[in-house]
Amino acid sequence: MANENTRRKIVVTTPTGHVGSRVVRLLLQAGIRPTLLLRDPTKIDAAIRDRVDVVQGDQGDADLVVRATRNADGLFWVDPPATTDGDPVAHYAEMGANAARAVMENTVTRTVFLSSVGAEKRHGAGEIDGLARTEELLNDTAANVLHLRCGYFFTNLFMSLPELRAGVLSTPWPVDHPMAWVDPRDIGEIVVARLLSDWSGTHVQAVHGPEDLTFSGVAEILSQVMGLRIRAERISDDAFRGSLRSAGLSDEQVEGIVGMSVGLRENFVAADERSVVTTTPTTLAAWAYAHLRPAR
Ligand SMILES: NC(=O)c1ccc[n+]([C@@H]2O[C@H](COP(=O)([O-])OP(=O)(O)OC[C@H]3O[C@@H](n4cnc5c(N)ncnc54)[C@H](OP(=O)(O)O)[C@@H]3O)[C@@H](O)[C@H]2O)c1
Repeated sequence: MANENTRRKIVVTTPTGHVGSRVVRLLLQAGIRPTLLLRDPTKIDAAIRDRVDVVQGDQGDADLVVRATRNADGLFWVDPPATTDGDPVAHYAEMGANAARAVMENTVTRTVFLSSVGAEKRHGAGEIDGLARTEELLNDTAANVLHLRCGYFFTNLFMSLPELRAGVLSTPWPVDHPMAWVDPRDIGEIVVARLLSDWSGTHVQAVHGPEDLTFSGVAEILSQVMGLRIRAERISDDAFRGSLRSAGLSDEQVEGIVGMSVGLRENFVAADERSVVTTTPTTLAAWAYAHLRPAR
C-alpha cells in the first residue's frame, strides 16, 4: 500500500551535518522520501541512498536552491558554516537571502530554520548576527517560517578534544556562566516534528537541551565520563583569538567566533525562557559517554 507521506516533498539542507543527518533519518522513518541538497552525494550513507532524492550543489548557488525547492511542502534550512576566508556574518546573510528567495518563489509551505540563542539581539553577537539576518529575510517573505533558536551544541566539544586529553577545557566565557547546552540530534527531532505538523505564521522556538550548564559543570561531567581530571579555565579574548588564528581561521572568522561570547556573556537575557517545549532529553553525560569517551 502506498504511503501517503511519499507525496510530500521535504527538502533537507546540510543532510550530512549534526542536525541534518538526524532530520533525514526521522523523515525516512516517517515514510517520507526526502530531497537532500548537498555538495557531495558520495557522503550519503549507503543504507539510505536509494531512499532519497538528491540535488547536488552549493547552497551559495541561488538558482540551484530555487530549483531544489520547487513544489516543496517543507524545507529544513541551515546556513552552512563558512569554510573559506571572508566575513561569516555576510556569508550567513547571503545564504539566508538564497533561502528567502527560494521560499518566496516556490511558496514553500513550511520552513524550519536552524537559528541560535542570541539571534534576538540582531546585532552584536558575532556570527550569530548572520543567523539573525536570515531570520529577518525569511520573515520578510511572509511565508510560514519557524526559527529554532538553539543553545550551544555538545558537538562543539569535539574541537576541544586535544586539550581535554591534557585535562583542560579552555573558554572565553566566565566558567560559572550558565547557558543552554544541547545535543544537535535532539534538535533534529524538533525539526521533523515541526515539518510534519500543521501550523502557519512566523514563529520562534528555543531548543535548550536538558539543563543550563556552566563550563565548570561541564568539566566536572566530562571528568567523570572520560575518567580524566579536567578543569575549566577562562582565557582572555586575545588568547582565544590566538588559538583560533593558529587553527588557520581568518581574522574575520576569528571575530565572528569571539563576538559570540563577547556579545552574549554580559547583560544578555535570552528572549525565550526554558519550558517543557524548549527542553530536550539528552544529557551531556550520555552524549559524552557515546561520543567523547571512545576518543579520549
Ligand atoms: N555550534 C553551535 O553551538 C550552534 C548553535 C546554534 C546554531 N548553530 C548553527 O548550526 C549550523 C550548523 O549545524 P550543524 O552543526 O548541524 O552542521 P555541521 O555538522 O557543521 O555540518 C555543516 C554541513 O554544511 C555543509 N556545507 C558547508 N558549506 C556548504 C555549502 N556552501 N553548500 C552546501 N552545504 C554546505 C557541509 O557539508 P559538506 O562539507 O560535506 O559539503 C556539512 O554537512 C550553523 O548554521 C550554526 O550557525 C550552531
